[in-house]
Amino acid sequence: MDKQLLKAAADKIFADMAGAMTVGLCYVGATTGLFTAMHDKGPMALQAVVDASGLQPRYVEEWLKGMACAGYLTYDPAAQTFSLPEEQAYLLASDGTDHYMGGLFSMATVLLKAAPRVAEAFRHGGGVPFSDFGPEGVVALDLVNRGQYEQRFASYWLRALPEVVGRLEAGGRALDVGCGAGRVCVALAQAFPQAQIFGLDPDGESIAQAQAAAQAVGAQVQFLAQTTGEVARGDGFDLITVCDCVHDFAAPVQTLQEIRRLLKPDGVLFIVEPKVADRLEDNRNPMATMFYGFSVFHCMTQSLANGGPGLGTCLGPARTGDLVREAGFSGFEHLDIKSQSFVFHAARP
Ligand SMILES: C[S@@+](CC[C@H](N)C(=O)[O-])C[C@H]1O[C@@H](n2cnc3c(N)ncnc32)[C@H](O)[C@@H]1O
Repeated sequence: MDKQLLKAAADKIFADMAGAMTVGLCYVGATTGLFTAMHDKGPMALQAVVDASGLQPRYVEEWLKGMACAGYLTYDPAAQTFSLPEEQAYLLASDGTDHYMGGLFSMATVLLKAAPRVAEAFRHGGGVPFSDFGPEGVVALDLVNRGQYEQRFASYWLRALPEVVGRLEAGGRALDVGCGAGRVCVALAQAFPQAQIFGLDPDGESIAQAQAAAQAVGAQVQFLAQTTGEVARGDGFDLITVCDCVHDFAAPVQTLQEIRRLLKPDGVLFIVEPKVADRLEDNRNPMATMFYGFSVFHCMTQSLANGGPGLGTCLGPARTGDLVREAGFSGFEHLDIKSQSFVFHAARP
């Protein structure tokens, strides 16, 4: 055995474990308001952070030290002060913006709670159904995607489909399939007040959170706790959006066929999926590593729990296109929209 490689392997295990513990510390920082309490304050002594956050001194002290070791805070040993750098604040003390990344830490804590059950599924099959992740699972998904859906969906992403924008401005009909906490629907309702907006999700908890989100801002959205096979087609939809869900479907081709039937003949399906490469060898990076974790502990397992194929978070653009074509769509195109974490496709019936 190569001793240097052995040391490197041990160092990597410690680094990954440090990363896992840092996730926990960041979860505390994001959910207790510690990041926000330190935002724009410059160097702070322990007591100043305690006063600003209203939290328990001994906990705050240990958190500050851990976060300084992790490189999230700068530490001045002479003054014994801690600062939250501007860049960290931009990403972590910015809840509700499209650049907020603190929601990822809530996602990690929700997903890893399922780890013992997922390990059991490795032995005996089955999986962990979506509903078993509870209300906090829906909240965590919302925290991760909300800012981008609110601030980019209607004003930027959808502009890649000008004909759809025109039809919604004139009062068309749009349906968000797998609407989760409802932010896409709310964004569409606010951007296109003449349009009829529907959100569909088979998960009752998601629909309840979506209804609350729409009510909070007075957005006119009809939410349906239904499947795509149950929803009334009416005159059909000009736009159907499927955000971060195709890879979750337990019957992907059937669901896409049902979506196709719901579209008007000249309607458009807009698909948002996690940004991964098609080939595993091109996915050896932190983003895909994170997505494979999301997959094992959530996306794949909840599909397998429902007897689905367990496509997983890293489905990739090529296989997404295959599914869409198999469902009978004639056109499938990649849309040139910039995003760190998503890719975008359009398909026509
Ligand atoms: C990862 S979440 C995404 C939620 C939301 N679209 C977002 O981007 O935040 C996947 C959603 O798809 C929903 N879902 C799963 N299978 C579905 C199906 N066959 N039809 C409609 N929605 C489905 C789940 O209930 C869940 O809300």
